[in-house]
Amino acid sequence: LPLLLFWGGIGYLLGSVPFGMVITRAFGLGNLREIGSGNIGTTNVLRTGSKAAAAATLLLDGGKGAAAVLLARALAGEDAAQLAGLLAFLGHCFPVWLGFKGGKGVATFLGLMLALAWPVGIACCLTWLGVAVLRRISSLAALCAAVAAPVWCLLLGAPQAAVLSALLALVILWRHRENIARLRAGTEPKIGQK
Ligand code: G3P
Repeated sequence: LPLLLFWGGIGYLLGSVPFGMVITRAFGLGNLREIGSGNIGTTNVLRTGSKAAAAATLLLDGGKGAAAVLLARALAGEDAAQLAGLLAFLGHCFPVWLGFKGGKGVATFLGLMLALAWPVGIACCLTWLGVAVLRRISSLAALCAAVAAPVWCLLLGAPQAAVLSALLALVILWRHRENIARLRAGTEPKIGQK
């Protein structure tokens, strides 16, 4: 148990680094909290107009989820990997450094699913991409990918990841409640729109 708690802690620390804010500042693009939705994720970094900053945020926010899983798995096994992934995700959504007001977890979720069960991760990325291409709305793509994740786990032979991915989907739905209200009202902006 102490070992699991240790890997949970490592995962949380990794996940809680708000790369979107760090990169936006480093690129001299201002304070992400005062831009667009105020969210700390890739979609909102894109609203600064910098595709490079958005791509870096996506890679780093996804990478921290994947890193948590791969590190814990290599050093402590599968249970530790799942816990580290979950805590990295929660660290992104509720980082202690930002008074627990973090992001919506989508990139970190995709990264950790790729590391945990790569066919499921790829299926989730493709789900995101398919909806994004068809509808050009990031939050809608994210919600579809998240809800599909447990189904992909069962269809693609990774039932061990189904419970975790269902949990992640619930948190993602909760974190997107304002987006869901805008989607229902038809006022959610398209990708890249301010
Ligand atoms: O990944 C976050 C995205 O789904 C929504 O971001 O900034 O439009 O609220 P945002």
